Amino acid sequence: MHLLLYGLRGAPARVMYQNPTLTLLHRSPGRREYLRANKKPIVFDTGLNCWVVLDPDLAAAALTDPRLAQIDYHEANEELARIARLSLSNIHFTLAHNPISRDGDLHVTQRKATARHLANHRRNMGAALTAAVDRCAFRFDTAGELEVMSEIIIPAVNLMIGALIGVPVSGDEPAATMSRLFDRLGSARRHVEADRQIGEARDRIKAAHDDISEAEVGAALSLWVLGYDAMIGTLGESLRLIFETQSGSALSAMSFPDNPPETGVAYIARTARTNLEFGGVAIKAGQRLRVTLQSSAYSDDPKQQARMFGAGIHTCVGRPAALDLWRALTAKLATIDRKVEFLGSKLRDQDYLFVYPDYLKVHVT
Ligand code: HEM
Repeated sequence: MHLLLYGLRGAPARVMYQNPTLTLLHRSPGRREYLRANKKPIVFDTGLNCWVVLDPDLAAAALTDPRLAQIDYHEANEELARIARLSLSNIHFTLAHNPISRDGDLHVTQRKATARHLANHRRNMGAALTAAVDRCAFRFDTAGELEVMSEIIIPAVNLMIGALIGVPVSGDEPAATMSRLFDRLGSARRHVEADRQIGEARDRIKAAHDDISEAEVGAALSLWVLGYDAMIGTLGESLRLIFETQSGSALSAMSFPDNPPETGVAYIARTARTNLEFGGVAIKAGQRLRVTLQSSAYSDDPKQQARMFGAGIHTCVGRPAALDLWRALTAKLATIDRKVEFLGSKLRDQDYLFVYPDYLKVHVT
């Protein structure tokens, strides 16, 4: 990958994305400037061998266009299990109940099941938010080095997801990595580990609910695997951006936007059902589209920013809960008089889907 330093007027030198393919654009340090300056709504990327939708309005049009189909992750998992001769039965189970893999009536049924599960557990959210916020304030009480991912964000998301699923998940549990089953480029070993973790989560859901049906277990699992890395990545990268660009300021003097300024879900994929014209280009049946969501997060328009949660029938079911946690944490941070200096952050290795910091280190004084 080639990176080129360039200066923006009135801004520090930035790293501009110069990769001949857009494969790793979502992880590059210069992605915000690249996407904000970009004038091409859609391009064909030969490295990825697919169309990349870069414009946020065209991204929303892609997600609401019935000629474009959702990716069948369920079928893709079956194929991986067959080719690599693996038993991925827990992934199979969660995908069979997951609205993200489905279209039509099955999608409607499974989306309703996840929404119902969330509605039934939403009353637990208040206590989880209080616990997450208290823990965050406590961590900033002491001066010195602080690793924000393991000390604040992962515990907060554990508490929130646990409350929403109705399973006790301790703030001190290490981060689960089961969401990585959606990473098409992830290794078979990662899928095996995701399958093991999903098996454990499945048992915990059953143990926590009396007389729960298999469909309800599937709905709860879907929320866990879809919400977990998306939440941690979004909160982590958003705080990384804020701490990096406002390094040295007191938390109480920093500006925390209403919507997270970064998203952990950089893009989502669709395939063309037939030959079609879209966004001024001709797309062939079966061709894939990578629909960028970072451009929505980087927009100045709050309506556009909301589209980082998707658009159309698959729009994120967990959006209100995700925003509740972001707003509760940042409202608390904005009351703390400690100064924060950004020390460094690195994205999780070999992640071709989520934008998820491995660590985010700051110095607190
Ligand atoms: C800030 C964090 C989050 C982001 C950025 C995010 C993003 C998204 C996006 C972009 C989609 C649409 C996918 C598509 O069209 O293919 C989606 C769907 C979904 N999300 Fe989230 N999400 C977040 C948090 C959560 C949470 C916390 C939960 C659960 C508690 C959740 C549950 C779901 C479900 C169930 C779907 C599938 C909906 C369907 O297919 O009908 N998400 N999310």
